[in-house]
Amino acid sequence: MVMMKQHLFILSFLLLSFLRCPQTLAQAPALAPALAPAPPGPTNVTKILEKAGQFTLFIRLLKATAVANQLLGQLNNTNNGMTIFAPTDNAFSSLKSGTLNSLSDEQKVELVQFHIIPTYLSSTQFQTISNPLRTQAGDSADGKFPLNVTTSGNSVNITTGLTNTSVSGTIYTDGQLAVYQVDKVLQPLQIFDPRPPAPAPAPAKSKKKAAVADSPDDTPADNSKAVSTLTMQNVVFWGVSAIVLALSL
Ligand SMILES: *[C@@H]1O[C@H](CO)[C@@H](O)[C@H](O)[C@H]1NC(C)=O
Ligand SMILES: *[C@@H]1O[C@H](CO)[C@@H](O)[C@H](O)[C@H]1NC(C)=O
Ligand SMILES: *[C@@H]1O[C@H](CO)[C@@H](O)[C@H](O)[C@H]1NC(C)=O
Ligand SMILES: *[C@@H]1O[C@H](CO)[C@@H](O)[C@H](O)[C@H]1NC(C)=O
Ligand SMILES: *[C@@H]1O[C@H](CO)[C@@H](O)[C@H](O)[C@H]1NC(C)=O
Repeated sequence: MVMMKQHLFILSFLLLSFLRCPQTLAQAPALAPALAPAPPGPTNVTKILEKAGQFTLFIRLLKATAVANQLLGQLNNTNNGMTIFAPTDNAFSSLKSGTLNSLSDEQKVELVQFHIIPTYLSSTQFQTISNPLRTQAGDSADGKFPLNVTTSGNSVNITTGLTNTSVSGTIYTDGQLAVYQVDKVLQPLQIFDPRPPAPAPAPAKSKKKAAVADSPDDTPADNSKAVSTLTMQNVVFWGVSAIVLALSL
């Protein structure tokens, strides 16, 4: 163990000296331009969002739905790039409470995928884009997941038919991946289409009634127990009396 630590120490010392060597430093600028176009490994969206802060809920959803891992693979394997509209923590907390919990696992995946466009879109490309956009959640042609983007001046407006918002910042862009901040969760019609409220749960009511009806039964039950105890006491009393009587005779 000590030997290994020593080796590690010597190794890091050598590495440090090597890195600090002026010759290496002199070479670095010449190498940099050639290396720059090839980023090391697929871009890690989670890392980008973590660094930006205020996206903890979106990150949690990306992880819980396994879309984060999907993205790693897709970003490593795409020619078209990718665009992500990332809702802030405030965007999630301004949803009606219980909104996320009411979704099925499949709907959660769709909701996350609805925020992802399988094409890299620079801010200038928004001006010439044709609506509706195709998202990862599905083909917008069937009208289930429409997402429209329009620009006016510097503002990029987004509408889903339920949510109107605009891009409020650029978090990351590298010509392959673009991550934009949005201050509202983009709610797709397919999931959040307003429907008549569900009727009040009837089973809960009848259960309560049954519980109330049960309680009067408790008293007779207790009484009968008391009665039987009394009877037993009588039996013992008369039994003992009989023995005492027999002995005294
Ligand atoms: C991506 O970044 C996150 C946060 O920094 C990290 O937890 C995760 O392991 C990274 N994933 C990969 C595949 O590097
Ligand atoms: C990225 O893609 C290349 C080629 O398609 C593959 O060999 C490599 O394993 C992939 N890397 C990751 C981290 O998925
Ligand atoms: C974009 O949204 C802003 C408000 O966020 C609004 O004032 C403007 O009219 C919208 N533009 C378009 C083209 O919808
Ligand atoms: C989106 O754009 C398409 C094509 O312009 C249009 O038919 C549709 O009504 C728009 N949907 C919304 C929600 O704005
Ligand atoms: C979104 O904006 C359109 C017009 O741009 C408007 O008709 C619609 O009512 C707005 N929807 C919401 C939910 O604000």
